[in-house]
Amino acid sequence: MPHPYIIAIDGPAASGKSTLGRRLAECLGYLFFDTGVMYRAVTWVTLQRGVAVTNEPAVTQLAETVQIDIRPPSIEDGRACDVLADGIDITWEIRTPEVERNVSPVSVYRGVRQALASQQRRIGMRGKVVMVGRDIGTVVLPEADLKIYLDASAEERARRRYTEVIKRGEKADYEEILAGVRMRDEIDSTRAFSPLRAAADAVILDSDKLNADEVFAKAEDLCR
Ligand code: DC
Repeated sequence: MPHPYIIAIDGPAASGKSTLGRRLAECLGYLFFDTGVMYRAVTWVTLQRGVAVTNEPAVTQLAETVQIDIRPPSIEDGRACDVLADGIDITWEIRTPEVERNVSPVSVYRGVRQALASQQRRIGMRGKVVMVGRDIGTVVLPEADLKIYLDASAEERARRRYTEVIKRGEKADYEEILAGVRMRDEIDSTRAFSPLRAAADAVILDSDKLNADEVFAKAEDLCR
């Protein structure tokens, strides 16, 4: 039986979507596309230009005009890909706490979502892709052949984020990270346009009870 041509993975922040998507894409020889980096790139440009994140028309205009490029990694520093905004490498800049705090409010805007989703859809419809996000199975690629919704409790996701930050040698506060995860869940799942939710035909995997290898094994089974 052929493998699914388009694979959508959705789920809340830090549920392990990127880890799973990256491994699955590598195993199938597909393109891995983490759509969250696009929302992060728009947020970074907004902050960098001194535009208020509350200024919806200005943020939308930036989303419509900024040239976001995602390319294979040019440096071996743990990155999955290079992320460029108007030719500037912002791969790590989009992971800062400031971007982290502001990305959910930016991704609420309808015009921002429309601008980014149409680019994502164009890439996804070429097929042989594992696309990761919040609304891939519901809005961006509803025709995906396989939809996975990866869930985990806020506490477990905060614990993973905390470990990641500590591993990078940076300081972290678990309670602060947990509060941030909860805030993003709330904004992502209650927004009016394409809120975070599982598609009716998605397979739900709960990574509270499964480690990364077990999640991958289940997803691999689903692909067969
Ligand atoms: O997956 P991530 O943490 O990098 O995503 C960053 C933010 O982008 C997240 O708070 C919600 C938003 N996002 C979205 O609204 N839709 C997507 N398809 C991907 C991300």
